Amino acid sequence: MTRPRAALAVLVLAVGCQKPLKPGDPLRGLSRAERDRFDRGKVVFDSVFTPETGLGPLFNSTGCGECHENPAGGRGDEVEVHATAFRGGVCDPLPQEGGPVIQQHTTPALKQALGIDEEPFPPSATARAMRTSPVVFGRGLLDLVPDSVLLAYADPGDQNHDGVKGRPNRFVDGRIGRFGRKAFVPTLREFNAGAFAAEMSVTNPQQPTEEDIGGKPIPAGVDPAADPEITQDALDLTDDFVRFLAPPTPLKLGKDGRRGRDLFSQVGCASCHIPTLRTGASPVPALRNRTFAAYTDLLLHDMGAGLADICLGLATPADFRTEPLLDLRGAEHFLHDGRAATLEQAIELHGGEGSGARDRFEALSAADRAALVAFLKSL
Ligand code: HEC
Ligand code: HEC
Repeated sequence: MTRPRAALAVLVLAVGCQKPLKPGDPLRGLSRAERDRFDRGKVVFDSVFTPETGLGPLFNSTGCGECHENPAGGRGDEVEVHATAFRGGVCDPLPQEGGPVIQQHTTPALKQALGIDEEPFPPSATARAMRTSPVVFGRGLLDLVPDSVLLAYADPGDQNHDGVKGRPNRFVDGRIGRFGRKAFVPTLREFNAGAFAAEMSVTNPQQPTEEDIGGKPIPAGVDPAADPEITQDALDLTDDFVRFLAPPTPLKLGKDGRRGRDLFSQVGCASCHIPTLRTGASPVPALRNRTFAAYTDLLLHDMGAGLADICLGLATPADFRTEPLLDLRGAEHFLHDGRAATLEQAIELHGGEGSGARDRFEALSAADRAALVAFLKSL
C-alpha cells in the first residue's frame, strides 16, 4: 500500500514543482525538432520587412512582432481600422474596395506614384471598426477544439432561458469560424497566412497575389519584390511559432482570488467564458487531448448596441466572439477597441447577452467585486 502512495506523492511533487509558463514561453512537452521550429519561426515572426523583402505597397506594420510584442505574441499598442457594409441583413466585406482591413501606411514608392499615405476608406462602407492587437498565446490549442464541442455550447434559440445564446460564425464555405474578434476565420493556419497579406502585404504561397488599392491595380514598378514574397517554409515556421506559444500559467490564487473564481461562475461569466476546453487529435503530442484554461466558447454573442461596429460573415455589428481571458495580468486596455481602461469597465460595458452577468456583478458587494477582479488578474 505504501509504495504506490509514495510514487504518487513524488509524481504530484514533480508536477507541482514545474516552473510556471511565462507569457511568450513555448508549450511544455515539445520535441526537440518542434522546439527548433518554434525558435526559427520566432525569427520570422520578429523580422522586419522592407519594400525590398516584400513589405507593402500598403501595410499596417513592418512585422508580426511589431504588433504582437513584449514578448513576441503578446498584446500591442497598434490599433487597426476595419470596414465592411451591412445592408438588408447581409454582410459585404468589400474586397473590391480594399476591405475589410484598411491599411494605414504606404511605401514611399506608392506614395510617390499615387500621392496617398494610407489606403482610401471604402466609399460603400456602412461602419468602421477599431481593433487593438491581441495576445496570440494559446491559439494553437483553441485551433484544435473539435467543432462538436463548440456546437454543444451554442444555444441560438435560448432554449434554457438564461438570456445567453451563442452561435458559431461561418466562413464563406460554411466551415465554423473561430479566429479574429468576429470569429470569421476557421483555422489558425489561414489566419496566420492572411496576416502576412493583410498586415504587411507580404504575399505567400497561400495568398500569392497583392491586394488591389481601393479596387485599382498597383501602379507598375511600385512593388519590387517578386511574388510570393515569402516561401512556404517561412510561412510554416511562423505558423508553428504561433501554434506552439503556450497560454501563460495562471498566478497562484490567494483566498480572495479563490472566492473571485467561484463568483465568476456564480454570476454567469462562465456561461460564455467557458473556463476549460479540451483539444482533439493532433500530430503534436503537446497539443493533443489537452485540457486548458480557455475562458471562451469561441461563439458569437450579441453584446448590445454600445459595443457594435462592423459585420463580418454571419456576425452582425453587435456580435462578438467571447474573448479568451488570457494574460489579463499584463493588459492595460480591454475589449475589441481598447475602450476599457480597467477590468471593471470592461465588465460594465457588457450589454446584450452579457447584461445579465454584468448586472449580477454590479449587485455584488465591493469586496466581492474586488475578489472577482483579483481572480481575473491572476489569468
Ligand atoms: C498592424 C498590427 C498587426 C500585425 C503586423 C499583425 N497582427 Fe495579428 N492581429 C492584429 C489585430 C488588430 C488582430 C485582431 C483582428 C480582429 O480582431 O479581427 C490580430 C489577430 C491575430 C490573430 C488572431 C487572434 C485571435 O484571438 O483570434 C493571430 C493568430 C495573429 N493576429 C497572428 C499574426 C501573425 C502571424 C502576424 C504576422 C504575419 C500578425 N498577426 C501581424 C494586429 C496585427
Ligand atoms: C454573453 C456572453 C458573455 C458573458 C455572460 C460575459 N462575457 Fe465577457 N466578453 C464577452 C465577449 C463577446 C467579449 C468581447 C467583447 C468586445 O471585445 O467588445 C467579452 C470580453 C470580456 C473581457 C475583455 C477581455 C479582453 O482581453 O479585452 C473581460 C475582462 C470579460 N469579458 C470579463 C467578463 C466577466 C468578468 C463576466 C461576468 C461578469 C463576463 N465577461 C461575462 C462575452 C461575455
